[in-house]
Amino acid sequence: MQSFVPSPDQVQALLRAARLAYTRAYAPYSDFPVGAAVLDEHGVVHAGCNVENVAYPQGVCAEAGALSAMILAGGRRARAVVVVGTGGEWITPCGGCRQKLREFCDLDTPIMTASDTAVGPQYTLEQLMPHSFGPEHLARTHS
Ligand code: THU
Repeated sequence: MQSFVPSPDQVQALLRAARLAYTRAYAPYSDFPVGAAVLDEHGVVHAGCNVENVAYPQGVCAEAGALSAMILAGGRRARAVVVVGTGGEWITPCGGCRQKLREFCDLDTPIMTASDTAVGPQYTLEQLMPHSFGPEHLARTHS
């Protein structure tokens, strides 16, 4: 069950931002550009793209970039997420990004998939990451 449903305008803004980010990805090694966008608790959209590195493990995923942009801008919660990629399959966040999203999303936050021209299936974070480890498992307050 998804409690927050982004408005059609918010979905369009997320798609626009993630698709623009996709065009700006730096992915010369994988040739697999990815764009992502998150909607924060203030209604502001933040985007990111994957940024690869010749030392392959040092690359950064699009979702990580979008979350960093959100935090830098003062947002603390991602209310909706869009990931844009092209290829044979709809792109869902990798395992590491699912954990990063877990920090700033609710379990019922919608994670939407899309390509440059179409919209794919939508999931909640919990569907992508059942039985996950999150901030509430540590006995301290996070702000
Ligand atoms: N990638 C992302 O940016 N996000 C994902 O959720 C999946 C993978 C990037 C990492 C790497 O630059 C390229 O896609 C191929 O794995």
